[in-house]
Amino acid sequence: MTTVDFDALLEAAHGVAQAAYSPYSEVRVGAALLDDAGVVHLGCNVESASYGATICAERSALVAAVSKGQRSFRALAIWASPQARLMPCGICRQMLVEFAPELELVVASNGAGPERYNLADLLPGAVRPEHLR
Ligand code: THU
Repeated sequence: MTTVDFDALLEAAHGVAQAAYSPYSEVRVGAALLDDAGVVHLGCNVESASYGATICAERSALVAAVSKGQRSFRALAIWASPQARLMPCGICRQMLVEFAPELELVVASNGAGPERYNLADLLPGAVRPEHLR
């Protein structure tokens, strides 16, 4: 398998963040999810006047990928507009673990350079499909 180009993935996340619909928080987030076949799936945050209905960028990208039939992922880049690095929320971590428990992440923001993480470290003790059997 080829090595992941995290810079290119982050650039794609930065690009799709411009499509964010976030009139309430004014925070723009973009996610670029690389699947096992080498295809990148993009997502941005989409807010709602019913605030709790908001969908994060990471889940937008994941849902887009799964809707195309892809369920295996290698890496995820997240770019967000604030100064501080915006880490994926708990719900997104749980959704990502479902498909890629050891997903490689790169996270950057407007004011914080890229940092790499592994999803297994970000959500220890996650609920996994095998726990339901
Ligand atoms: N947001 C994401 O898109 N991903 C995260 O993991 C953290 C939060 C979005 C949701 C909301 O539109 C804005 O950032 C502020 O929370």
